[in-house]
Amino acid sequence: MAAVAALPVSLSARFKGSFAYFTVKDRLPQILTKAIDTLHRHKNEFFEEHGEKGVEAEKRAISFLSKLRNELQTDKPVTPLEDELPDAVLWNQYLDYQRNLSNGNGEPSWFQSPWLFVECYMYRRIHAALAQNPPIGSFDVFKEGKAQNFFESQEAIIALCTYFQELLKNIKDLDEKQLQGELFKLLQVSLWGNKCDLSFSAGEESSQKSSPLQCLEDMVPYIIVDDMEKLWSLLINTKKRNTEKCNVRVDIILDNAGFELVSDLVLADFLLSSKLADEVHFHGKSIPWYVSDTTKSDFNWTIKQLQAANHMWMSRCGINWEGNLKKGVWVYQDHMFWTLPHVYSSMAEVAPDLYADLQKSNLILFKGDLNYRKLTGDRKWEYTVPFHQALNKFHPAPLCSLRTLKSDTQVGLKPGQGEQIQASEPEWMITGKYGVVQFDAAP
Ligand code: F6P
Ligand code: MG
Repeated sequence: MAAVAALPVSLSARFKGSFAYFTVKDRLPQILTKAIDTLHRHKNEFFEEHGEKGVEAEKRAISFLSKLRNELQTDKPVTPLEDELPDAVLWNQYLDYQRNLSNGNGEPSWFQSPWLFVECYMYRRIHAALAQNPPIGSFDVFKEGKAQNFFESQEAIIALCTYFQELLKNIKDLDEKQLQGELFKLLQVSLWGNKCDLSFSAGEESSQKSSPLQCLEDMVPYIIVDDMEKLWSLLINTKKRNTEKCNVRVDIILDNAGFELVSDLVLADFLLSSKLADEVHFHGKSIPWYVSDTTKSDFNWTIKQLQAANHMWMSRCGINWEGNLKKGVWVYQDHMFWTLPHVYSSMAEVAPDLYADLQKSNLILFKGDLNYRKLTGDRKWEYTVPFHQALNKFHPAPLCSLRTLKSDTQVGLKPGQGEQIQASEPEWMITGKYGVVQFDAAP
């Protein structure tokens, strides 16, 4: 029987017996240290913009973050949020729920709480450290890293934009088979784009260096669940059956800014240009999240950077994408739910408006590892448990996860498949080397 009733694994349990998990454990304090350094380095900027008030705010934010790091490192209880930001009530209700789970065994502490919860909680507290300290309240401590990833991936971005603009020249002449081939390529670029994640490397450089299209063939064996054919069938059949000419809508639940975001935008443009979709809705984060996740400001910044680039095809992409937003065929949305600790099976209850909105979609693409963890409840499932079962009634519309494996949750494998990889590569679930394109059709 699958571990459906098992509690999510706590941070300390994940650390036992595996060297790699110790790196994970180190990663959260490292991220906080980097955030503190970043604030220090911007001291002069805060002074120039806001005078003494800016410097005082910087000091308060740093002391808040230092306290947070100390709480984490000394395994203190996870305390209720004391700010009055709009999501604080939901967070504190969730904390109560965690307390009840601990069955009177005292306050849940950092190492004794589910990993998903404490990790999300850390990012929410980082947000509070800034948001509570105007006039630097909207400063994103992760912004520089995201921009750096974008600039360091420049060659790969040029290669991708050039390939795509060449493709657009004759996209109308492609037959179905060719269209399918192009979709598969861009899905894979978007999948492997998910390797470029900064929370994974504690904010260290993690850009796309080589041409993202050249190595696709070699990476095929590492796609351990490949439902691309199912995705294609859904899209082409929706297009053919669409006799009432309703808009076909695809939603992309974004993950990281930098190269990954560009790969997602190219995929979105392809869906429109090939007429497989009529509108694409992007869902980003409303606060800085997991170091490299995309916020509205990152989204707009990326499109502006592309537009202003010195390279013809890069800037053509940027111009077209700005146009898509203006025409309303691309829509950027964010919702508080994406930065709560809740798993997606509770979305219908916690964020019924978001769930209802997603029900209007013909296909939802979930990018990245954290989305996968939240889709599957971040549980230690047996590998062969069907994806549909792990989704635990989260079925707003047909959905697909494009994710490289960085954490030890995986479902929907063939019998023996996981064990076979495990035998030769004990760290296979956390290195980002393997990926899935995993589809679930049934609402
Ligand atoms: O492994 C560290 C980690 O922060 C995980 O907690 C998380 O699942 C992942 O990295 C983030 O990856 P992604 O950006 O693909 O969601
Ligand atoms: Mg991420």
